Amino acid sequence: MLKDLREEHSADLVVANIENAAGGFGVTPEMAQKIFAYGVDIQTSGNHIWDRVQILEYIADTPRLLRPANYPRQAPGSGVHVVEIREHKIAVVNLMGRVYMHTLDCPFKTADRILSRLEGVHTVLVDFHAEATSEKQAMLYHLDGKVSAIIGTHTHVRTADARISSRGTAYVTDAGMTGAHQSIIGMEVGPSLGRFLTGMPKRFSTASEDVKLQGVVVTVDPSDGHATSFESFTHDFDLAAYQGSKADNNSESDTSA
Ligand SMILES: [Fe+2]
Repeated sequence: MLKDLREEHSADLVVANIENAAGGFGVTPEMAQKIFAYGVDIQTSGNHIWDRVQILEYIADTPRLLRPANYPRQAPGSGVHVVEIREHKIAVVNLMGRVYMHTLDCPFKTADRILSRLEGVHTVLVDFHAEATSEKQAMLYHLDGKVSAIIGTHTHVRTADARISSRGTAYVTDAGMTGAHQSIIGMEVGPSLGRFLTGMPKRFSTASEDVKLQGVVVTVDPSDGHATSFESFTHDFDLAAYQGSKADNNSESDTSA
């Protein structure tokens, strides 16, 4: 599905936030490898990146898997990656908010520091993984005209405010979620609702009804890094058919083995 979408939009670069890929909590090295194989070029993350202990070693050796750049420098991995496409450099920056989240280094000052080091890079995409809409909007005004796009993640529900500022920065508070939409931000309703009703901890698992793939497509003028078009998309995903074809493939490979 992703490969078809990539073709449909003539995408030069595909970025996905994967921090909930492993049953809602982090990502494993095997999953990250699969996601790269599906056609994702760079993976970003957020507060759940350390949930799977196996990722510590993998992220240190995988520059295309980012953790928020405002973690202290002792944390493994990096929050910035620069790629070159047809002689144009593109930087992807991952930052995390601090309102109602862990106390990390200042995302605004971290962004300033990163941008000051990105000489000759006009196209800069920022995944700002944050809870508070106000903090995300503040980042837009802080970086307005200095980056090509600020794409909000973490809250899982696509917001209706995708726009391009007069200075050429595309912005959306939340790009949406790839996952089950008959859910509470991707998780089964029962335990999540139960936690609110009882105040007691519950074991969460990912939901499986009404699966959708959501995201945004940004077109950028590489000469100045300004966004020229910005659109959101939603596609239904037939999970049952996918699981059926996966089972068929497995039984075929079992037979041939
Ligand atoms: Fe998150």
